[in-house]
Amino acid sequence: MIARRRMVRNYTGEPVEPAALDRIVDAGRRAPSAGFSQGQAFVVVTSRNDREAIAALADEASYVEAGFDPWISRAPAHVVVCISEAAYRRRYREPDKSPDGREVEWPVPYWWIDAGAALQNILLAAVDEGLAAGFLGCHAMSGLAELLGIPEEYSPIGVVTIGHPAPDRRSGSLDRGRRPVRDVIHRDRWSPAGGSG
Ligand SMILES: Cc1cc2nc3c(=O)[nH]c(=O)nc-3n(C[C@H](O)[C@H](O)[C@H](O)COP(=O)(O)O)c2cc1C
Repeated sequence: MIARRRMVRNYTGEPVEPAALDRIVDAGRRAPSAGFSQGQAFVVVTSRNDREAIAALADEASYVEAGFDPWISRAPAHVVVCISEAAYRRRYREPDKSPDGREVEWPVPYWWIDAGAALQNILLAAVDEGLAAGFLGCHAMSGLAELLGIPEEYSPIGVVTIGHPAPDRRSGSLDRGRRPVRDVIHRDRWSPAGGSG
């Protein structure tokens, strides 16, 4: 299932069964979270108007100009993945995490890690349902939180498009190829890139 996952940027007109969509989003809810902070939240969008509005905010026209299909508006379902940094800051001041109630020193911002874990659960759950999913980061998508009424505490990290796969144009990024196993996976000790280990 993991090997079958890829970002799909085109969908048929067939709707996604609501129960399947519920299971996919629930997979996001079941993602791990630091201290079980559970700062992840999701907005499920299926109405045509809202999907078209999201596609406009995402500048879908520029994808189409580049030769992609209108995959954002065409996807029958969107799941917007959101994360609350404040939930982590609150959780890590609780007694079992911080005996003096002071905020911990964050080694890394755990909220972004947990948002990624939820995202990946959703992408894989879509494949598990016989569907396909794509993702677009929303750092450049101003207006999304306002459109969907997302409270200030939550940051939308991106939109997962979900639907029945249709033939699509592959991303040019894939021309880079997947890095070879020996450069990525190290056994017992880190071995230099391109080495024999
Ligand atoms: C954080 C993140 C942001 C991404 N943003 C976009 C995006 O804005 N638009 C897009 O078409 N693909 C986006 N992608 C998809 C990547 O291009 C894709 O995952 C990569 O090329 C590898 O392809 P694959 O997922 O099909 O294996 C994003 C992926 C990640 C993880």
